[in-house]
Amino acid sequence: MQLLDGKFLSQQIKQELAAEVAEIKSQGGKIPHLVAILVGTAGRSETYVASKMKSCEEVGMTSTLIRFDDSVSEDELIEAVQAVNANPDMDGLIVQLPLPAHISADKIMETIDPAKDVDGFHPINIGRMAKGLPAYISATPQGILEMLKRYEIETAGKHCVVVGRSQIVGLPMSILMQRNTNPGNCTVTLTHSRTQNLGEICRSADILIAALGRPEFITADMVKDGAVVIDVGLERVADASKKSGFSLKGDVKFDEVAPKTSSITPVPGGVGLMTICSLMQNTLKAARKEIY
Ligand code: GUN
Repeated sequence: MQLLDGKFLSQQIKQELAAEVAEIKSQGGKIPHLVAILVGTAGRSETYVASKMKSCEEVGMTSTLIRFDDSVSEDELIEAVQAVNANPDMDGLIVQLPLPAHISADKIMETIDPAKDVDGFHPINIGRMAKGLPAYISATPQGILEMLKRYEIETAGKHCVVVGRSQIVGLPMSILMQRNTNPGNCTVTLTHSRTQNLGEICRSADILIAALGRPEFITADMVKDGAVVIDVGLERVADASKKSGFSLKGDVKFDEVAPKTSSITPVPGGVGLMTICSLMQNTLKAARKEIY
């Protein structure tokens, strides 16, 4: 069993990014600049955004955090997005999700200039990705592709089962894995909460991507011997034995599943770290105007 080590890979990618940013600096070029908009303080968004900003600084990119209270109106948020769109110094923009219920996330995503949409959430980027045109690709799926590529995992002709149909991970992942690219060329099954015979379908997967957000949902009996298992989940589960009172769990019951696999991502230290790297890679592409 091979551990797909997101920590190692993310350090490698960060070194590559830092070298590229240093090169831009030495030539007097434009330093890539990522802007994050964060609304409120609920949930884990604050932690996620802080680590995105910190990672930018680590590789020498500029980062700006724009914060709003939960009470911000949709119009105010739209204006903030438009201001970033219009600012030539700002290359990439993410609006951290979820947003409060009174704000339409779709409306906000559609306001972001597709050329600055480094999260790849704008319908134009999703459409271009589906057509195989140059596009910003959602950070988690892109990080998983990068991981499969760097570990030279054979995907062509394999059956890839994606569990979870979220707009951010499951849906784009299923599209990317069937494309005529490497990684890709899989026969893909996209499963979700209404899928019948889920265990049977998962057992037929050569590559199983769990992105449903339910801790330890995927058990050993759902996994074929020798499968590649990618765990996108990251949930806090109460754990009295830990000083913090919780431990982080993925969607896969790692201890019992890992021995059956050919390769598996750990949680933490797997996909999550790759996600942040993808965001920075996209910000570099935005600064270099590689996509638009
Ligand atoms: N919320 C959870 N994941 C993400 C992400 O990748 N980008 C944004 N903007 N919000 C998120």
